[in-house]
Parts: sequence; structure tokens; C-alpha cells
Amino acid sequence: MIEQLRKDFPLLQNLVDEQPLCYFDSAATTQKPQVVIDAVNQFYHQENANVHRGAHTLSAQATTKYEAVRDKLAQYLNVQRNEVVWTKGATDSLNLLAYGLTNILGQDDVIVLSPLEHHANIVPWQQAAEKTGAKIALLPVSKEGVLDQSAAIELIRDTKPKIISLCHASNALGNIHDVKQLIEASKPYGTITVVDGAQSFMHLRPDLKALDCDFFVFSAHKALGPTGVGGLYGRYDLLNNLPVYQTGGEMIDTVSFTGTTFRNAPEKFEPGTPNICGVIGFGAALDYLTSLNKNELLAYEQSLHQYLLTRLRQIDGIKIWGDNKNNIGVVSFTYKNEHHFDIATLLNSYGIAVRSGHHCTQPLMAHLNITGTVRVSLAFYNNQQDIDSFIAALMETIEMLEE
Ligand SMILES: Cc1ncc(COP(=O)(O)O)c(C=O)c1O
Repeated sequence: MIEQLRKDFPLLQNLVDEQPLCYFDSAATTQKPQVVIDAVNQFYHQENANVHRGAHTLSAQATTKYEAVRDKLAQYLNVQRNEVVWTKGATDSLNLLAYGLTNILGQDDVIVLSPLEHHANIVPWQQAAEKTGAKIALLPVSKEGVLDQSAAIELIRDTKPKIISLCHASNALGNIHDVKQLIEASKPYGTITVVDGAQSFMHLRPDLKALDCDFFVFSAHKALGPTGVGGLYGRYDLLNNLPVYQTGGEMIDTVSFTGTTFRNAPEKFEPGTPNICGVIGFGAALDYLTSLNKNELLAYEQSLHQYLLTRLRQIDGIKIWGDNKNNIGVVSFTYKNEHHFDIATLLNSYGIAVRSGHHCTQPLMAHLNITGTVRVSLAFYNNQQDIDSFIAALMETIEMLEE
């Protein structure tokens, strides 16, 4: 089945620097299936028009198609269509949230984050804390980069946070967090719970009603869709009560020089012309993803992850970071004192696309006492042969570095 699916991704068939491509950077952005490329192409070839405001046929068709994707997304996440806001991506969604929630913070309040967060889930909250005097508390993480779940629950009990914002899966290490249990633990304190689903949206396909979070953010480009589009889910009352973030056309009810009134969520958070083509392309990605069996894909990704771990563990001097049991299929490693960038650059000369550096998680790297890692991030379109090619290239890379 996977060999058939791989054919849906044109870039995987290409040569890069005259080598077959082994793409291991899906945590940064996934490759796109032909159906997404076709949807984007078709929009600009045959359907292009602005949405919501035209009486003409193309505008009406674009509006119908664009709004239908909101339904697909709501279904994918198991929420209501008016609970999802289109944004530019996870970063944009987190900024919207931190800006909106600044209103409820005061100097006696605590925002709980973890050292594993992406900068996008740190800096907006830091800004909110600076403006309000609220404190940031961090969930305990081991020296290997694994969240201590029972100590995390204890910290929530001790700090009774106003807001808790956590990644469902870590982009740097791949760890999957039991956010449901942490959300439950924070319920008695009326904590607002935010889940950064940038890395879990595609691999775990979370059911947000079951997760019971208040807010959830994600980016389409990490789930087979185009860049520049993503979303924010919010429990409707909480979402609708957030103050407007950006203002302009479309999000208003009435405008006059004596005052302006705003629409309700989600429209009140969607000013201006949206990324129509991006949303429509994402609709094709959602159709593609949901046509595939979730459990089968996840089991395949997990078996590939185990194979990669087994092969890597056979190489002396490799140190693998993070939680290797509950993991979306990311392996972050260092090799002795060799620089991660040198390893990644040498691997690239064999057609192996990995990422190196701090992965926008500088506080995590500081916690692990390293400057960065080499990150291999898998998706269901990788296969065992990719991993074999990677291991062979890594062995040669190590040989060169040790010369
Ligand atoms: C866990 C996590 N959160 C947030 C982001 C930010 O996503 P974007 O750059 O698409 O806004 C990323 C991107 O890597 C991520 O992995």
C-alpha cells in the first residue's frame, strides 16, 4: 500500500542533486500529494475569484468551495464549524490566542508551559506575561527530554494555572504528550487549556471533543496542505469572547465613524481576503488524509520509527534524545561531539534531507545542554529503503568526520 501512496507525491520521485530524494523533514513541512497540487492549480486556472462578496458565478462557487473546507476541518477535528477560525498557521493562531487572553491575566496568575515548546508557543505567552506581570511556570522534563507526567500533574495542582499551553507532540524530539490527562488535572482550577497540535494534527488525527481542550492550533502545511494557512479551534463561548485581534473588512457587522460592530466567531477573527487557494488546497489534503485508514498509517509510521531506532542504536557514539516509546516518528540525535550541521550537510550530499539545529526550541536545547541535534522526521510516505539509505550515508559521514 505504501509503495502505491508514495507515487501520489511527485517530489518523492525526483532527483535532488542527481540523487534519489530521502525526505526526512516532514516535521518542518510535509510533501504534497498530487491531489493538493491539482486543487491549487485548478483554482487559479478555472475558479479564481474572491469569496463572500460577489454576486457573480465564480465568486459564489469559490465561496461554496472555501466554506465547505471549514466543514471538512470541523469533521476531521470532531468540532462544530463555527468553532474553527482560519489563520496563517500555528504561529498566527498562538499569537491570536495569547493576545486575546492577555485580558484575563494579572500579576498573581500563572501560565504553564513546558521546556519542550516550539518558540511559537513560548514567545507570545512571554509577551502576555510581560504586559500583565503573570508568571510562567515550566512542567518538569528529564535530562533526556521526557516530560515527567506525575510531577507535571503536581505542578498543575500547586500553581493552579490560569492558562496551560502545551504541545501535543514535540517537534524537536517527537514525544507524544498525554495532554488529555493534564487537561483533566487542570479542570478544577478553571484553567484555559491550549494544545499546540502542529505536530499531532496529521499523525494522530486528534478528536478534540475527546481531548476536551479549550483551544487547539495547527498548520496545514504540516498535514499535506499548502503553506500560509492553518487554524485555531476554540470552545465556542471562549472563542467568541476573545477580543478581536486584527480588524478590517469581512469581520465587521457595521462600520460608521460613530463606531463599528463586529461579527461573531469565527468571522470576527478573519479580516480581509483569506488564503482562499490555500484553504481549498488544504481541503484536498483533508480528503486525501481521511481516505486513508488512520490506524493503519499510524501503525506503519510506528513500525518505521522502531526500525530506524534499531538501526541507529547499532552505531556506537549515537545518542538519541527524547521519549522513544510515545513518539510520532521523530528521531533527534547527536554523534559524539560532532556538530549537527556538519552531519546534516554531509548527509545532504547523499540525497538525505534531514534538519539540524535547535528546531526553534532553544530552551529545550539549553535544558539538554546541547546546541542542537540532527532530526530525522518520518511520515507515512517514507519506507524502509529510505532508512537503509540514510544509515548507509550516516556510516560514511561518520567515517569522513573521524578521518
Ligand atoms: C510544535 C510546533 N508548534 C508551532 C509551530 C509553528 O508552526 P508554523 O511555523 O507553521 O506557524 C511548529 C513548526 O514547526 C511546531 O512544530
